[in-house]
Amino acid sequence: MGDDSLSITDNRTGKTYEIPIHYGTYPTCGAAIPALDLRQIRVSEEDFGLLTYDPGFTNTASCRSGITFVDGERGILRYRGHPIEQLAEQSTHLETAYLLLRGELPNEEELNEWTHEITQHTMILENVKKFMEGFRYDAHPMGILIGTVGALSTFYQEAKDVQDEESRRKQTTRLIAKMPTIAAFAYRHSRGLPYVYPDNDLSYTGNFLNMLWKATELKYEPDPVLERALDVLFILHADHEQNCSTSAMRVIGSSLADPYSAIAGAAAALYGPRHGGANEAVLRMLTEIGSVGNVPSFVERVKSGEGGRLMGFGHRVYKNYDPRAQIIKQLADEVFEVTGPNPLLEIALELERIALEDDYFVSRNLYPNVDFYSGIIYQAMGLPVAIFPVLFAIPRTAGWLAQWQEMLIDPNLRIARPRQVYVGADERKYVPIEER
Ligand code: CMC
Repeated sequence: MGDDSLSITDNRTGKTYEIPIHYGTYPTCGAAIPALDLRQIRVSEEDFGLLTYDPGFTNTASCRSGITFVDGERGILRYRGHPIEQLAEQSTHLETAYLLLRGELPNEEELNEWTHEITQHTMILENVKKFMEGFRYDAHPMGILIGTVGALSTFYQEAKDVQDEESRRKQTTRLIAKMPTIAAFAYRHSRGLPYVYPDNDLSYTGNFLNMLWKATELKYEPDPVLERALDVLFILHADHEQNCSTSAMRVIGSSLADPYSAIAGAAAALYGPRHGGANEAVLRMLTEIGSVGNVPSFVERVKSGEGGRLMGFGHRVYKNYDPRAQIIKQLADEVFEVTGPNPLLEIALELERIALEDDYFVSRNLYPNVDFYSGIIYQAMGLPVAIFPVLFAIPRTAGWLAQWQEMLIDPNLRIARPRQVYVGADERKYVPIEER
């Protein structure tokens, strides 16, 4: 596709400017003008030039990326061109992580090597364990995860060499391998339970369940249905292009900070209830609603602005059903066959039914997102609510690192540094305190 252009006439001066339009793979993948080309639009020599004003970056392309494609109008999500539905059905989280990071699905040998590499790095240093022991007994697991991942930068100081490909690869392996270990230790810490070391005979998710649940048995054997369900949930959460936490990863990474510090920042961005903390917030909301009979009055309170937002609903990009939510809803049935149903499911289904018929939600294109049903599955699996955001951070680590790596080798990399439109006071004199 060739480049087209845009003619802009500045009515203040009558001047017309020609600005090129650049396309993505095809027009629905994004068409953009270089923002800096607007700077030439000015009314006088002293004028700074035109900026775009875009709080929340709702219409700003911050990068060119070849990793994840989302078409929010049509409910499409693809990693490196592969539809999420096919990956959820046929792939594994580790294979998907490889795809995100390296751009292609691995062959058998490559996958074995990758799996071996990750498995060899699941242990954390005893010093890291001691660092975690310093958290209070009631610390939130996500806070522990953020602090501990940040602390890893002090243990792997060669990670600072972010321009070195070999070092990037090593830190990537370590992070993907160690996140489940830190997450499980964070959970066991908050329960006052002894930490369980990784079992490298098990799969990525099987081992994670082992580190969460193993008690006195000699060998933990994960339930295959739950192990697979968790793997599918991990695939669905692995990347989602330039969302809040990924943008945080790129912003921090653009200063050439080490990846552990950048991941700590990305995880912090994920923690909030409007992003990855939403799965925890959904569960708390459903528990507060309490029964199907209370759903209509709760919906009314949301609409009037008194009840807060309907958590797990709405998305910046999807103006249609989130394809991940659709897959999770189907997965729920398989999990409930093993665990028995979660009584909160009935409330969630009723909430969805009422919301999808209500003009408030319909007119604003608010549909269930990935977080609406995931928490119900996690809870049925016996996972405590406070660990839900952590369950998002583990798989998203692969996406964060893929985006970080893509950014570092991009010839257009520049430190992230947005502009502002200043609306504060004009120049004024300092007045000594006794004269104020
Ligand atoms: N419940 C009630 N009203 C809502 C909701 C909601 N969940 N989401 C948006 N709205 C309303 C909002 O009040 C606004 O109404 P009005 O035009 O009358 O002021 C309108 O819809 C547009 O909202 P917005 O805040 O401008 O939309 P946004 O694109 O900035 O926000 C969002 C996207 C995900 C932050 C928001 O939909 C939300 O807060 N949802 C609940 C939290 C949630 O489930 N987050 C998980 C997102 S998916 C996983 C992830 O990426 O982390």
